[in-house]
Amino acid sequence: MSKIISGFSKMTKQEKTDWLTDNFFENPIKAKETLQQYWNEDRLLQELHDDFIENTLSNFYFPFGVAPNFVINGKDYAIPMVVEESSVVAAASLVAKFWSSRGGFKTTILSTIKVGQVHFMYKGDPEGLQFYFDKMKPQLLRATESITKNMRQRGGGIIDLALRNKTKELANYYQIYVTFDTQDSMGANFINSCLEAIAEEFKRSDIEIVMSILSNYVPECLVRAEVSCPVNDLYENDAELYANKFVQAINIANVEPHRAVTHNKGIMNGIDAVVLATGNDFRAVEAGVHAFASRDGQYRSLSHVEIKDGIFRFWIDIPLALGTVGGLTKLHPLAKLSLELLDYPSAEDLMQITAAAGLAQNFAALRALTTTGIQKGHMKLHLNNIIKQLDASEKEKVFLIKYFENRTVTHNAVVDKYREMRNRR
Ligand code: MEV
Repeated sequence: MSKIISGFSKMTKQEKTDWLTDNFFENPIKAKETLQQYWNEDRLLQELHDDFIENTLSNFYFPFGVAPNFVINGKDYAIPMVVEESSVVAAASLVAKFWSSRGGFKTTILSTIKVGQVHFMYKGDPEGLQFYFDKMKPQLLRATESITKNMRQRGGGIIDLALRNKTKELANYYQIYVTFDTQDSMGANFINSCLEAIAEEFKRSDIEIVMSILSNYVPECLVRAEVSCPVNDLYENDAELYANKFVQAINIANVEPHRAVTHNKGIMNGIDAVVLATGNDFRAVEAGVHAFASRDGQYRSLSHVEIKDGIFRFWIDIPLALGTVGGLTKLHPLAKLSLELLDYPSAEDLMQITAAAGLAQNFAALRALTTTGIQKGHMKLHLNNIIKQLDASEKEKVFLIKYFENRTVTHNAVVDKYREMRNRR
């Protein structure tokens, strides 16, 4: 029987749930129960979430955690993180504490320019097109005035428009390349509205507008986060040896894409968690960051390190187009709460906080990988999760944690030990 349906979006939530569970599940009642157990009792709150997207049937919970003890440019932060991977928040908190007694994180905004493009085809003479563009430029800007009015009042708006000839890459292809300052908003809607107005004004019978859209590649919306300390303050023992291994780990990620992807994934563990917690667009950030990591033609580490005159310096330059107004930032109660927790940051502040979280995560991963390995820390959390599923008393928990300190943690091994303990009593 076909499972193709018309008018699904017009159905009520109950009708959608019924249709879906009847058609796609062996046990529709159980499926319905699973979906419904995550509904919020507060009707208005549920409706708020229902309206974020089309066809909402339930809520999908992710843990909302916090990593305290971040010192960023001398200010203390507890950073909100939304992530499902068990070690991420623990690692961020640990590293934040570590650096809090070594001067904390220093962050700087390197640039805040965003980009949008009107892509079009034109078969005529390029010089004629340039002449037309130059003549039209003031008119194109005027066409956006009603859209940019508020943004201009806040100090942002369109920075510049340029015609780019891309015919060497693709026959007849040109673009109007527009740069923007979107202040505290991520700016996607603003940029796209401006571009569509520009395209409408620019079009002519011999110009075929293909599309008008922002770019999520934002190499000029860049933030730096860094930490530094004397090499001898880095590790309790064999500081020089381990600091050098740390440097080699970055060198490897710079020459070996297989490693670089995992290395940068560790950075994104921190970045995405903050981006999500503050209601920002993590897909845009992910796409832009990875393009940036391969900007010279090879995918490389986003973080960098140097040891000079006995000082270890570790930093990241990362493109982050974030907003603290608009979008979900004020609509989602937890995103709003996250921003309050961060003391109502500007977009630039949030870029800096997020970059620090990414750097912290990378430091935690590399420190673990080049010393004890990561499984030890991961297994501790894994062990806790297994113990939680058992009906263990406090005393039994303490015993199991001690017992598995230097043993391999597997679900079976923990359960067997637990049963053995119980049987002995
Ligand atoms: C796991 O989520 C992240 C790491 O693999 C990152 C890395 O290898 O650098 C630990």
